[in-house]
Amino acid sequence: MSIKEQRIAEILVDHQGREGSLLPILHDVQAEFGCVDADSEKLIAQGLNLSRADVHGVVSFYHDFRPSADPRPEVQVCRAEACKARGVEAIIADAEKAAGERVRVSTVYCLGLCSAGPAARVGDRLHARLDSKGLVEVIENAR
Ligand code: FES
Repeated sequence: MSIKEQRIAEILVDHQGREGSLLPILHDVQAEFGCVDADSEKLIAQGLNLSRADVHGVVSFYHDFRPSADPRPEVQVCRAEACKARGVEAIIADAEKAAGERVRVSTVYCLGLCSAGPAARVGDRLHARLDSKGLVEVIENAR
């Protein structure tokens, strides 16, 4: 048994008997390996007695789950309606330019800071009331 197989087996045991355990398991696998790849989907499907298609359907539905690991820091930028109304679309081009290939800028739809947008998140840290300079600074400091 590989280290990955062993770790996924442990994650499955951690969630054994819990209702609706697929999403928490996927989050744990993503946190452990930085992705939920095809091998992981297969092991999870076997462990939960689901079809591979069932697991893949959930993995591919949620943007948080990635099929391969990406070691770059991620800056999530909210582009939902309230942040749009507060100007996020006018600052996103500068953000993407500042990110280059070093930082992954991803789009999310609401970070719960609607009245203080534009908003972004890096890991557990939220940033609000961003203008172009502020968002570029967030991106430059992302590790
Ligand atoms: S719409 Fe951007 S934080 Fe809610």
